[in-house]
Amino acid sequence: MKVTIYGSGYVGLVTGACLAEVGNQVLCVDIDQDKIARLNRGEIPIYEPGLEDMVADNVQSGRLAFTTDAAEGVRHGLFQFIAVGTPPDEDGSADLRHVLAVARTVAEHMGEYRIVVTKSTVPVGTSDKVQEAMAGTLQARNAQIDFDVVSNPEFLKEGAAVDDFMKPDRIIVGTDNPRTGELMRALYGPFNRNHDRVMVMDIRSAELTKYAANAMLATKISFMNELANLAEALDADIEHVRQGIGSDPRIGYHFIYPGCGYGGSCFPKDVKALERTARQVGFKAQLLTAVEDVNERQKERLFQKIHSHFQGDLKGRTIALWGLAFKPNTDDMREASSRMLMESLWAAGARVRAHDPVAMEECAHIYGQRDDLVLCDHHEQTLEGADVLAIVTEWNVFRSPDFELIRKHLKEPAIFDGRNLYEPKHMEDMGFAYYAIGRGRKG
Ligand code: UDX
Repeated sequence: MKVTIYGSGYVGLVTGACLAEVGNQVLCVDIDQDKIARLNRGEIPIYEPGLEDMVADNVQSGRLAFTTDAAEGVRHGLFQFIAVGTPPDEDGSADLRHVLAVARTVAEHMGEYRIVVTKSTVPVGTSDKVQEAMAGTLQARNAQIDFDVVSNPEFLKEGAAVDDFMKPDRIIVGTDNPRTGELMRALYGPFNRNHDRVMVMDIRSAELTKYAANAMLATKISFMNELANLAEALDADIEHVRQGIGSDPRIGYHFIYPGCGYGGSCFPKDVKALERTARQVGFKAQLLTAVEDVNERQKERLFQKIHSHFQGDLKGRTIALWGLAFKPNTDDMREASSRMLMESLWAAGARVRAHDPVAMEECAHIYGQRDDLVLCDHHEQTLEGADVLAIVTEWNVFRSPDFELIRKHLKEPAIFDGRNLYEPKHMEDMGFAYYAIGRGRKG
């Protein structure tokens, strides 16, 4: 089948590569000439395991191509996927300018029936706006051409995006036209594995499903972080509590890890956007507000612990920092806990020596050259001349470090662990002051 994808960002590229991988003819359209030139040379602008090879293979075999020519894109695909960005605007709602611009472009150039599929995460009701924008443009052209609008939200996890797309838990398709539902089923047939994963529903339910999934996951994390703080106050260990409740299959072990807060491009943005959507229809989504508040507070926890360890005097201190990305296996630092920690440390007059296996370039890009930030090539180098160590991302290389070396280098043997990587008892036996999340009074 022929597919066109607008937006060669994260979602667009993964969707394009994976749809080409199963045999479709895919054309990716982006307005960024530089990006398209680089993609045509086989350079991938993001770090995502497996993506580079998949793009290269499919470009080589002629199933995947990139262009800046939107009109060519409209001619190419029966399926016109919108995967452009929806950055939050000032009040937290998704900015739909790019999505609607693509809808108008498709309507401007189309000569026959097209299916416009929204893959970007967009507020409930956006498909109606896409429909209106296209109808308006066609009317202005005086053209009577049929089209259908579909909501097909994406559930990719960064760092596992290719795998998530190739082996999805579910494929949500929102459409009012049963025939379009069947065409979408056919497009996604190769991803079904063993049983049918495609769920066809009305458009608004599909749009809400995406937000509901992310809000539910964010709620699990904030719930555990709330309990972790309570465990500290009560001198209980959240890691025992986590395993205790996880054993109940209704709760489950997944996604209940306490830590220094969730980040990334999805959870913070989507929880806020859903809260706002609720407000717009006169509904007060109290739980969502609390989920976000708890997360904001959680991102300050490591700083508070460091601050009180030094009795409020951080001037001239140097903190070694392991991890910058919002989670392992990505270089993404959007809404990362590391940012709030570093910014608070700097504001208090401390310096940071940081390392991340892949996010160093991104960090340099965000903060530029500054005296109070040294980016080190190896995580052990961060320890040189540092007072204490803080950990915010659970990269595997940090799980079993050379504790002797850490103790030798740090001016004080203190570790502030935002991801509960080590055993408190073991750390104490080795002579460390070990501050984790929710692990007894010391936390
Ligand atoms: C998420 C959703 O998982 C995905 O389905 C959706 O399409 C986009 O948003 P992603 O943002 O890539 O994906 O990251 P995810 O792996 O879900 O982690 C999000 C954040 O939650 C990270 O900061 C992570 O450290 C944190 N987290 C996760 C916890 O603090 N505790 C947990 O138990 C799990």
